[in-house]
Amino acid sequence: MADIELQGITKRYPDGTEAVKDLNLKIADGEFVILVGPSGCGKSTALRMIAGLEDISDGELLIGGQVVNERAPKDRDIAMVFQSYALYPHMTVRQNMGFALELAKVPEAERNRKVEEAAEILDLTQHLDRKPANLSGGQRQRVAMGRAIVRDPSVFLMDEPLSNLDAKLRVQMRTEVSRIQQRLGTTTVYVTHDQTEAMTLGDRVAVMRAGRLQQVDSPRNLYEQPANLFVAGFIGSPAMNFFSADIDGDRLATPFGDVPLPHRLRAAAASAHGKRVIAGLRPESFEDAEIAHQQNRQGGHEFEAEVELTESMGSEVYAYIRLEGDVAESDELAEIAADTGASEVPGGGTSQVVTRLSPETSVRHGERARFWLDTDKLHIFDPDDGTSLGREQDVVAAAPSPAEARQEEAAPRAPSA
Ligand SMILES: Nc1ncnc2c1ncn2[C@@H]1O[C@H](COP(=O)(O)OP(=O)(O)O)[C@@H](O)[C@H]1O
Ligand SMILES: [Mg+2]
Repeated sequence: MADIELQGITKRYPDGTEAVKDLNLKIADGEFVILVGPSGCGKSTALRMIAGLEDISDGELLIGGQVVNERAPKDRDIAMVFQSYALYPHMTVRQNMGFALELAKVPEAERNRKVEEAAEILDLTQHLDRKPANLSGGQRQRVAMGRAIVRDPSVFLMDEPLSNLDAKLRVQMRTEVSRIQQRLGTTTVYVTHDQTEAMTLGDRVAVMRAGRLQQVDSPRNLYEQPANLFVAGFIGSPAMNFFSADIDGDRLATPFGDVPLPHRLRAAAASAHGKRVIAGLRPESFEDAEIAHQQNRQGGHEFEAEVELTESMGSEVYAYIRLEGDVAESDELAEIAADTGASEVPGGGTSQVVTRLSPETSVRHGERARFWLDTDKLHIFDPDDGTSLGREQDVVAAAPSPAEARQEEAAPRAPSA
């Protein structure tokens, strides 16, 4: 069993930097969990504490139910894969992959068996006798993973292992990593700053910001029910649009006009009557009004706006429209814009809204056009602390991850007396 539990883990570096603050996270045996967040948010520090490469200032780390705070890295049964993987240039792939086993004095026959097994999983069998210089970037990255796999650890820790690869290869390797993790079923914690990578890889994704865990959830729940402004703005590309809005009973006064609030937000709205909030809508929650009519889309709200720019992506068109009304202003949004790169947070100091329309749209830049927005998809946030209002928090928190669900099936509860 190699479940991992972080209980109130904190890291204070000697210079006083609090890189990780009170981190609580449970990772089930066999689970694939992604730690994601902007650069400097404490991902590597958290991973290095799990590996034992960094002392834990406060809190307890449990692996397989045992507190391992004081256990040396080599005694934690963990293998780590880093962004910069240095392969030995004078050694063949076979020698590179088997090197740790050789150091551990594993007999040659067993070493070869393990290396060949790993090579098969990694699709490297035909390259075992080559030197690294004669391999492609993706193949080299697979050799680096092979070095970890041959050790047959209980836990894999990966720190941005794909970020040195070019964009196309990264997408390929993403699929590979996922396939390998599923095949081996080894508990894996994977760190990345790339939200797309996080969303496509993991069973569960843990979003961090400035040393603090923001939300741990399935990719779908993170996307559909973000816990706060930060998660809402960080997950998704193009990012969610934010704008100021005023709650007025069951309605919301927005720069697009007065819209009905969806039922799921009404209880929260009732307790915030008259309050100014930050509203959020993802680009795909908008459509060309004409197309929305053709598709017979129900409910929603229509408005007119000036199109400043269109970008055809082939399967969809991004239309940037000018927001007529107040720009959403909050310290939270300003910080998020700084954390994630200002241009990625529409409404974070800009007055442009990104809409994602069907490719058949005929809207043109420089013209006014009619748009439709799906009011069911509205999000509202408290402008002071950024929390998402009216989110089904309890439901989300109680939902077991796929790995937990599998575990429960495998271990039926004892019948009650
Ligand atoms: N050895 C160190 N001493 C002091 N501060 C550090 C040290 N290592 C990292 N930090 C700081 O801790 C924070 C988190 O760093 P890190 O865990 O590397 O972030 P990430 O991997 O998310 O980019 C950053 O502010 C970084 O500057
Ligand atoms: Mg890092």
